[in-house]
Amino acid sequence: MRMRAQWSAAELHAALEPVIEEEVAIFLDRTPAAIHLTDPAQTLNREYYIRHRIETVKRIWLTSRTDALALAAMVGVDYEAARMWAPYVSEELGHDLLFLRDLRAYGVSLDDVRATPLFPSTVAMVNQLERDIEAIGALPAVAYSLFVEWNSDRYSERVTAKAERQFGDARERGSRSHLAIDKNESHYATMLKIAAALLHSRSLDELERLIRGISRHFRGYFAELFDETLGRAAV
Ligand SMILES: [Fe+2]
Repeated sequence: MRMRAQWSAAELHAALEPVIEEEVAIFLDRTPAAIHLTDPAQTLNREYYIRHRIETVKRIWLTSRTDALALAAMVGVDYEAARMWAPYVSEELGHDLLFLRDLRAYGVSLDDVRATPLFPSTVAMVNQLERDIEAIGALPAVAYSLFVEWNSDRYSERVTAKAERQFGDARERGSRSHLAIDKNESHYATMLKIAAALLHSRSLDELERLIRGISRHFRGYFAELFDETLGRAAV
């Protein structure tokens, strides 16, 4: 067990980099059509992309609850970490509006989003998060945010740029603003600081296991997204 009293954000960054890189490599290798989201040489499938954005909104609605549960847990363990987590999660809670704005530009209303059933992988991931928070406190929610902010940092710009080229900048204004917020507010760096603080009482192995679990759920999600859109079209 790699357990120690003090982690700096920089040390944690170095320790997590190969873990998340490996997970992304597995994702690209095993998930049908995953590469088409970012590869500039391939056309972005409109139905796949819109359905992805709908699930993004629905996931924000669900994780705003697990983020709040994590805040309650964190307050009792590390008040300074909670002071960083609270503004981050209240910001994230409102990001549904950015993606809903874009979805409207694609002809998808709030009612359409509400009426769209969740993918089973999303439900499974959020239920697992809730059980893990109940069992060990805030770290699972921070692991989730580390994973999504890392991906936002590395890959989301490419996805948005592709969508802008194909469907026009006017449909991607919310997505663009979202990227700017993540970057300007250094969301990934903030998550590293919070995670480093929580590792006073939990091990790096535990954090790594949580990140790999989140990544597995996302692989399941992208497989379901493929089956419902591109996969069905190919049959
Ligand atoms: Fe963010």
